[in-house]
Amino acid sequence: MNGKTPIIIDVDPGHDDAVAIMLACGSPSLDPLAITTVAGNVPLEKTTKNALKILSLIGRADIPVAAGASAPLERVLHTAEDIHGESGLDGPEIPDATFAADERSATKLLADTIESSPEPVALVPVGPLTNIAIFLRERPDLKENISRIVLMGGSIGLGNTTPAAEFNIYVDPEAASEVFASKLPITMCGLDVTHKAGAGPDRREKLRSIGEIGGIVAEFLEYFAGTYKEIHGFDAPPLHDPVAVASIIEPSILKTRPMHVAVECEGELTRGETVCDLRRVTKKKPNAEVGVGLDRECFFEILYGALERL
Ligand code: RIB
Ligand code: CA
Repeated sequence: MNGKTPIIIDVDPGHDDAVAIMLACGSPSLDPLAITTVAGNVPLEKTTKNALKILSLIGRADIPVAAGASAPLERVLHTAEDIHGESGLDGPEIPDATFAADERSATKLLADTIESSPEPVALVPVGPLTNIAIFLRERPDLKENISRIVLMGGSIGLGNTTPAAEFNIYVDPEAASEVFASKLPITMCGLDVTHKAGAGPDRREKLRSIGEIGGIVAEFLEYFAGTYKEIHGFDAPPLHDPVAVASIIEPSILKTRPMHVAVECEGELTRGETVCDLRRVTKKKPNAEVGVGLDRECFFEILYGALERL
């Protein structure tokens, strides 16, 4: 009981996942107990390697990392090397990891960590939700020691992987559907808010002024900006995953609305769409607080402050 919020982050690094890990570790109000990895932006072996490298880079080899699902519950894995590069962290070369992944599976590390925490743990999945769905299937008894799920994924509006679906939900819609049906308190940081956290040239310049780690983040984002511009047409790559972490650090930066969220698993054109009942037309009870606004300036100040502390 150190006054910090205990969290476990489930990641698929990915440049923005990497920044989310750094943000969590640089924040005095969070206690990252563990990191679990999932296949997503790149295959599992690479997301795991990247998580270990990032933690080693910032001197947090004390945080255990366990590998989870190498594929979605039912679907063939869809990856995003076009955005994040072959390694998943293309751009600046960073040193190899100084420690190895935990021998436990992601679900075992989740179970052990949650079971032993003296206070409820917040889960922060920022990749496909496969690990979280599997964990909740295997250990529903541990829900009582999960305070909430704060996820990056989905969209009230359009997608980024198809016109209808955001990447994390698109990759594993069945897992996402199970998580949204879990009855746990959920905060959904979807594209509606993460697209307000674009790291354009000025932000990248500011990051360069924040010491060694800020410089590496800026280089990561230069790469991310290049691919993002190629694909999406503008060079302010959204810091999707850090928004989820920052919303725990400072809840006031995120404006949310309660609404029922269902995940489309059947649609040919709409697979992975988060169907958000913004106007309560289904009369279904809200199952998530969905982000509708972001205090962009405050978000970036929180990020700069965290990176300065690393
Ligand atoms: O759609 C953006 C999300 O997909 C982010 O989490 C990014 O890292 C990728 O996983
Ligand atoms: Ca991610």
